[in-house]
Amino acid sequence: MIGVYDSGFGGLTVLKTLRTALPRHDFVFLGDSGRAPYGGRDVDTVLDFAEQCVERLFEEGCRLVVVACHTVSCVALRHLQRRYCPNPCGPRRILGVTIPAAEAAVALSDGHIGVIGTTRTIASGTFATEVAKLGPHRVTALAAPLLAPIVEEGWDETEIAKLAVARYVAGFGDIDTLVLSCTHYPLLLAAFEAAVRPGVRVLDPSPAIAQSLLAWLQRHPGYTEEGTGAIRTMCTGDPESFRRNGERFLGSPLPPTQHVEEERGSLAHRDSVRVRVGQIVR
Ligand code: DGL
Repeated sequence: MIGVYDSGFGGLTVLKTLRTALPRHDFVFLGDSGRAPYGGRDVDTVLDFAEQCVERLFEEGCRLVVVACHTVSCVALRHLQRRYCPNPCGPRRILGVTIPAAEAAVALSDGHIGVIGTTRTIASGTFATEVAKLGPHRVTALAAPLLAPIVEEGWDETEIAKLAVARYVAGFGDIDTLVLSCTHYPLLLAAFEAAVRPGVRVLDPSPAIAQSLLAWLQRHPGYTEEGTGAIRTMCTGDPESFRRNGERFLGSPLPPTQHVEEERGSLAHRDSVRVRVGQIVR
């Protein structure tokens, strides 16, 4: 069983491609929808939430956790790896999405990559750092804080979405490849493709992330076994809203979602019948 963690339901776009690449593996997805979006939050809060969610997935029995959220991957992945799996041959592993996204971008680009994501993702500089390890490519990075909320609102196919995407894309200059570094942006792919200059490639890195996981599992057997292709979902927000929104991101029906809640700084085995709606303010 592979654990997949996201700030909310956006990471279901990543789960969708993981399931295509690994159809016989079982997945448990934890979406921190009650505390999303993470994209404008401070680093310490993201680290705190990420620790709680990863701990919960470990307690569910996952030995491998994929951080599907670009914000968490950029800000907290190294911290999580040092804290929970300091030994690369140890019993647990945590993988992120930033390195596979950078590798796919470098493979596609002629030299100037644009990257778009949440405020926290872009402020981290992590994507550009990973690209610099791979080649001499230039990176232009722009934050698009309005886009994830527009998608969450279900407005991804509206004129508002097209205008907002076009406005952000206009800031990129002469890039040849644009990387969508946010779980929500695959739903805006058509708007991005319409907004970029002719010849600019728009890269949804999710399929590359799935292929990278497949290759990693072949190199690291024993962290998960094949199952029946089942998925289980948990969220910290309203389960009905998670199901409704989640199906748009996963592209297929979702099983009933289990609600989990923070109690004394932990999500681990703290199930609750009380369902909070909306963002939890801390
Ligand atoms: N999942 C986040 C990401 O990929 C987007 C939503 C949020 O801000 O929490 O960066």
